[in-house]
Amino acid sequence: MDKTLTIAKGKDKVGILFVCLGNICRSPAAQGVMERLVKDKGVADKFEIDSAGLYGGHAGDLPDHRMRVHAQRRGLNLTHRSRQVRESDFDRFDIIVAMDDSNYDRLRRMAPTPEDEKKVVKMADFFTLHPWADCVPDPYYDGAEGFENALDLIEDGCETLLRNVVDNPTKLI
Ligand code: 4NP
Repeated sequence: MDKTLTIAKGKDKVGILFVCLGNICRSPAAQGVMERLVKDKGVADKFEIDSAGLYGGHAGDLPDHRMRVHAQRRGLNLTHRSRQVRESDFDRFDIIVAMDDSNYDRLRRMAPTPEDEKKVVKMADFFTLHPWADCVPDPYYDGAEGFENALDLIEDGCETLLRNVVDNPTKLI
């Protein structure tokens, strides 16, 4: 699979949008993890980071309280309000990171142009410490273990993704 992405030259910020189904568990956690990573690396002003969901039924809601509790234990305060993905997100963001295959397929179908389609990647493509995992599984119907697993995978993927962007800001392999 071709994982090469070109980030528009001349843009002062790299836009990264994380997407899951409800935008109350996985993608707001990924947003929080990435926001902390760019802050820790001193490059927060070079990034625009957001999250959204394919299902709009939780629009306006804070992240699921279980995800907030598990994230808080890792020092992350998740305050994002859920929103649905919109077509204009393909204009606004350079990289659109899907949490699982279903999110990925739906985002690719939503993309207005073939160029926009190429912006969609899977979080699993950036797993370094969990090479056997093929997605960030939906923890919504799981217990504590599901939320911890999702956060472990998200931290792994975000670190690799950011390393790729910082090391090579015009091309992401
Ligand atoms: P998320 O989890 O996609 O990680 O935010 C879900 C949250 C809610 C629902 C599904 C998944 N739901 O169907 O309401």
